[in-house]
Amino acid sequence: MRLTRRQFGSAAAAAMLTAAYGRPGRAQQPIVIKFSHVVADDTPKGKGSRKFKELAEKYTGGKVRIEVYPNSQLYKDKEEIEALQLGAVQMLAPATAKFAPLGAKEFEALDLPFLFKDDASYVQTTKGEVGKWLMQKLDSKGITGLAFWDNGFHMASANKPLITPADFQGLKIRISGSKVADQYFRRLGAIPQIMAFSELYQALQTGVVDGCENTPSNYLTQKFHEVQKHITVANHAHLQYAVIVNAKFWSGQPADIRQQLEKAMHEATDYTNSIAQQENVDALEAIRKSGRSEIHVLNDAQRKAWAEAMAPVHKWAEGRVGKEVLVLLNKATGSATQ
Ligand code: LMR
Repeated sequence: MRLTRRQFGSAAAAAMLTAAYGRPGRAQQPIVIKFSHVVADDTPKGKGSRKFKELAEKYTGGKVRIEVYPNSQLYKDKEEIEALQLGAVQMLAPATAKFAPLGAKEFEALDLPFLFKDDASYVQTTKGEVGKWLMQKLDSKGITGLAFWDNGFHMASANKPLITPADFQGLKIRISGSKVADQYFRRLGAIPQIMAFSELYQALQTGVVDGCENTPSNYLTQKFHEVQKHITVANHAHLQYAVIVNAKFWSGQPADIRQQLEKAMHEATDYTNSIAQQENVDALEAIRKSGRSEIHVLNDAQRKAWAEAMAPVHKWAEGRVGKEVLVLLNKATGSATQ
């Protein structure tokens, strides 16, 4: 069949479009990155993920769309890791305490008690050699590590005051996954129990567990303080995240897109780390004001007693995370990690 001039014109235009953009109709479809996490929007991680979305979409000129799913909307703790491996989501930022199922239990070294003396020491450590060493551990697992995001130091809570190590005796304490956390609570005589973050409020409310640990921003946004009568600002351990992507997905992206996304991640990381501390100061103040929970702040002698009770975990950890990461951590923090 011969084409009229007009038909020929539109066929040629369609062919040109196809050549420029691939199959018609596919062309303008943005690359979608599903970013799943388990905390509220109004937390350092929630805000960080939204900042990444804003910057990534801007820098790629809309070629990438970031869909953020907060609050375990898509997946709970364990499922989100499986979903990432299967490619059902592309990006996560789990607590490093949850990395053992990825085959990277070395990340649990960051959960060691009284490891970081302050937030600056944490940031410096994860930005340095240890941070790089840990991220490389993910390469063989089909995962690419992009950044460490800060949250802050853990508090601990129950329906009774937790002031001395003996106060923990026999309490069922929820932990998020780390064997290192399991050990430090056992040293206090508690019975640690792994549970998904999204199940914790109800578990506290119904007495399935007696207590937990977390940062002020997580307590406030999940309302844990409404079901725990006493909270202790102990700063006994640190909560941090590693932003991770499915390696196959990541390496399959065009180089320029990946570069733009890396730039967005870099800036979102600086942003998240810059707000984490203040977010937690504000959250603690809001919890205090709510009057729902009594806040206790450990004094130096009390902290020392906690640190001494938990100290054997550093030696124990060698069998769990290996000596190499402990030596690196020791160098970075000046803590006696072995
Ligand atoms: C927890 O499970 O307690 C935390 O890891 C939640 C989070 O992501 O901050």
